[in-house]
Amino acid sequence: MSEHINVLLPEEEVDARIQAMGEQISRDYAGKQVHLICVLKGGSFFLCELAKRITVPVSLDFMSVSSYGGGTESKGVVKIVKDLDESIRDKDVLVVEDIVDSGRTLSYLLEMLRSRGPKSLRLCTLLDKPERRVVDVDVDYTGFQIPDKFVVGYGLDYDQRYRNLPYIGIVEFDEA
Ligand code: IMP
Ligand code: MG
Repeated sequence: MSEHINVLLPEEEVDARIQAMGEQISRDYAGKQVHLICVLKGGSFFLCELAKRITVPVSLDFMSVSSYGGGTESKGVVKIVKDLDESIRDKDVLVVEDIVDSGRTLSYLLEMLRSRGPKSLRLCTLLDKPERRVVDVDVDYTGFQIPDKFVVGYGLDYDQRYRNLPYIGIVEFDEA
């Protein structure tokens, strides 16, 4: 099956929104150090752009979980593929995600991180598909709410491709 990509959010719009999110986070964490946790691989592009726009001290760590196979549907199975390098105890932790879809991955992840004793724990996502929510997740910072479409770009993939697109696009599948 072949596919093509229709632009949903152009690069300038995404960049402007990330700038505003960086300013908001800088205000909210004034006088503190924010410890950003990037959920690989999808969150990596957003993390870099966001971190550059945060003006309070920032530290970073990465983790990798898998919840999807090769397709576009969540399997509801969350596996830690790579854990954090450092302890988050007593840190002001901000989890940086590409997208909240069913919410299964994040609700599992947030519960697990909360059990490790951070001083605070918040969630920042570039995209949110509220129509798809199966499990409740409190999102503290949202870039864009988007319709129930499968999207790629800015870190998001379809079968590991398209992560490098500098915009968010909708995947349209062509007839065979
Ligand atoms: P959830 O557990 O259903 O909320 O799914 C979370 C993960 O599924 C995200 O971090 C993405 O990796 C992936 N995902 C969900 N929706 C999309 C999409 O539209 N495009 C690409 N990946 C997606
Ligand atoms: Mg993700």
